[in-house]
Parts: sequence; structure tokens; C-alpha cells
Amino acid sequence: MGEYPITEEQVRFYQENGYIRLEGVLTIQEVEALRVALDVAVEDRRRYDRNEGPRTDPGYARVFLQMVNLWEHYPAVRAYVQNPRIGEIARRLARARSVRLWHDHALIKYPKDSKPTVWHQDWVYWPMRETGALSCWMALDDVTVKNGCMSFIPGSHRLGPRDPIDLGNATEETLLEMFPLEERKRFTPVAVEMKAGSCTFHDGLTFHYAGPNITESPRRAMVTIFMPGGTTYKKLEHLIGDRAGLSEGEEFHGPLFPVVAGE
Ligand code: SIN
Ligand code: NI
Repeated sequence: MGEYPITEEQVRFYQENGYIRLEGVLTIQEVEALRVALDVAVEDRRRYDRNEGPRTDPGYARVFLQMVNLWEHYPAVRAYVQNPRIGEIARRLARARSVRLWHDHALIKYPKDSKPTVWHQDWVYWPMRETGALSCWMALDDVTVKNGCMSFIPGSHRLGPRDPIDLGNATEETLLEMFPLEERKRFTPVAVEMKAGSCTFHDGLTFHYAGPNITESPRRAMVTIFMPGGTTYKKLEHLIGDRAGLSEGEEFHGPLFPVVAGE
């Protein structure tokens, strides 16, 4: 798998805005391999109740179907999350010496009765003491405002962490309402439409949102989260973190969190 060229200008854009769109990162064959793996995972989940997402309440289910750490069960996803092309992009954007996998999750936003993924920050749900971890949101379908593409508020990662949002029950404005009106007026969301095989990377503190899927077909995304090497554990209830057996302040390590780029 060849390298994806990242320029210093792109790294600067990411650092300044807290997100970036990168086009044509995967070939259509690579996209297809992930789509097939997701189909199998959805079917397995139905049959064996496997890979249950962390939340099953009906409000959350209308936001998306979330399947976590598929890489542990599906070889195509394992190959994808350890694909150095993606890990190296993450490493360069984060200006890190190395990056480890935190976890993957497939997010499928089904049509009909679909709810938005309300504005939130990711880092506040993660048991990490340091910031800097970032998500690669890979489109497995062409994504537009109509089927729930991602939107970001440029520069919002600099505003620091706020309270976590209950994604199943909050309103679109919940996170934004934590800011004075004058400040909110300066927020200028950018909706990022893109083709399957293109992706965005966003910092764990960047405010992001995805609208409801009002089309006829599912919107499939494969999200991989990377953390800079040296990131340490903070005690906080979390589906993956709880399995790690780490103590407060211990560096993330071990086979659950493989190094995917750098050393
Ligand atoms: C979504 O895909 O709807 C949201 C993804 C995210 O919150 O990172
Ligand atoms: Ni998120």
C-alpha cells in the first residue's frame, strides 16, 4: 500500500482548524472490501448479538448503528486499521513521533426516522489524560448534507474540553449553548461532502456534527481513532478503556492498542 502524500501546508491547516478533508485516500477496491466486512458485521451482530455498540437506547439507535473494534474480528478491518498509509497521515497531522490505535468504530446512519449526530467533542468520552488523539472518518458511501456528512467548526479544538453530550438525547444546540451568544456568532460550521474513499481527520476536541440521513440508503463510515505514542490513561468509564487493565497515569500499550505508525 503506497503512501498518501501530505504536505506541510495540510498539516498546518489541520493544526489551525482542527480538521482536514483528504480526497482519494482509498481505492474503490479497498472501499469495497470494507463495505463487505461491514455487511458481514451487521449480519453477525443480528445473529449472534456480537459487537454490540456501547449504547442501545432507541434515541441513540436513530443517530447511528455503532459497531466498535471490528478489527478484532474481521481481517479486512484489521488490514485497514493497521494500514500504514492511514496511520502515517494521522502521525503527521498530529505531529507525533508515533501513533497507536485507540479503537475503530463503524457508524452507519440508516435512512428513515434518522436523527442528527448533535454537536459534540470526542475527547471528553475518552479515558486519556493528554489531548491530541484524532479520528479518521472514512466515507464508504458518497456523503452529502442529505445523507449525514460531517460538519466541523474550524478552530473549535482551541476552545478546550466542555461537558460530554448525551448523543441520544441532547439537542443540536446543547454544546453550542455552553458559549455566550457573542462567541457563538463567530462559529462558522463547514459541511464536508466527499466521495467514498475520501476521509476527514479531526482532533478529539474539534466540535463536529452530522445531520440526519434523509435519503433512501444507509450512510456508512469507518472511523479509526489514533492516539499519539505516550498518551496516558485517565480513569473514566469506557467500553474499550475498561478492558485495558491500565492504572491511572500508565501509558497506553499492549496488543489492544497497536502502534500503527512511527516508533
Ligand atoms: C457520525 O458519523 O454521524 C458522527 C461521527 C463522529 O461523531 O465522529
Ligand atoms: Ni464524534
